[in-house]
Amino acid sequence: MQDQPHRPETERPLTSETIQVLQNRVSVRSYTDEPVSEATVDAVLKAAFRAPTSSNIQAYSVVAVRDPDVRAELAPVTGNQRHVLEAPVFLAFCADLTRIEAALTRNGHDLDDNNFEMGLVATVDAALVGMSAYLAADSLGLKGVMIGAVRNDALATARILGLPRRVYCVFGMCLGWPDDVPPQKPRMDFARMVHRDQYGRLGDDREIDTALADYDAALAAHYADLGKPTTPDSWTHDVDNKFHARPRDELRQQLAALGFDFK
Ligand SMILES: Cc1cc2nc3c(=O)[nH]c(=O)nc-3n(C[C@H](O)[C@H](O)[C@H](O)COP(=O)(O)O)c2cc1C
Repeated sequence: MQDQPHRPETERPLTSETIQVLQNRVSVRSYTDEPVSEATVDAVLKAAFRAPTSSNIQAYSVVAVRDPDVRAELAPVTGNQRHVLEAPVFLAFCADLTRIEAALTRNGHDLDDNNFEMGLVATVDAALVGMSAYLAADSLGLKGVMIGAVRNDALATARILGLPRRVYCVFGMCLGWPDDVPPQKPRMDFARMVHRDQYGRLGDDREIDTALADYDAALAAHYADLGKPTTPDSWTHDVDNKFHARPRDELRQQLAALGFDFK
């Protein structure tokens, strides 16, 4: 980030290198054959590990997968996503309670029956590290996409990655040097997602219908431009299609088996 000399706010630019990286970000699923060195991955992760962490618990670990055989094992868990097979690097961002458990054990306690908060803070920690890594990678010219589909079968993912009890993979991330960078997906209207002082003070219940109609149209136009099949109610349709059947309904049991009680 560039240094900002002390100036009144009105004279400061409302942009920066960091803001530009964020403003230009897009998920990229296609990479060149060029390898990504271990030094580059380490630089990305060292920066990412500066992310804030709840009560300094640092309840995360990352498995950096380069071995094509391991990626080939992971791909079916993710529904055979092509980029999982093809990306030179796959980073598995894990919530990790092993060190916390060790600290409790030393003090005569245990992590049995750990509560929802314990699983949540570790998951948030891992997510913050994941996003930080994503931005650090992007700032070096690497591109990628997060892979939540590792939770299609959290047990299989844990087995493939050799995760011990008290560790689960929150999401993965394919990284590589970009081959094809798609146009950015439109986002919902900023003004409808930012509230001033209290939620909804400027809006009313009808706004949600207008917001959805506007966004459905914008996303449908985006997919049409790319020649991708869609429906006029693109976002509403896709979200309902994905979530009405309660996907990954067995996840709570799977995570309990991995040592995260979430209760
Ligand atoms: C936690 C998380 C999991 C995701 N899982 C997948 C995935 O399994 N496969 C995939 O292709 N994209 C995945 N994505 C990428 C999203 O589909 C993508 O961010 C979203 O459609 C918005 O597009 P954009 O990132 O290009 O703006 C995931 C994103 C997040 C944050």
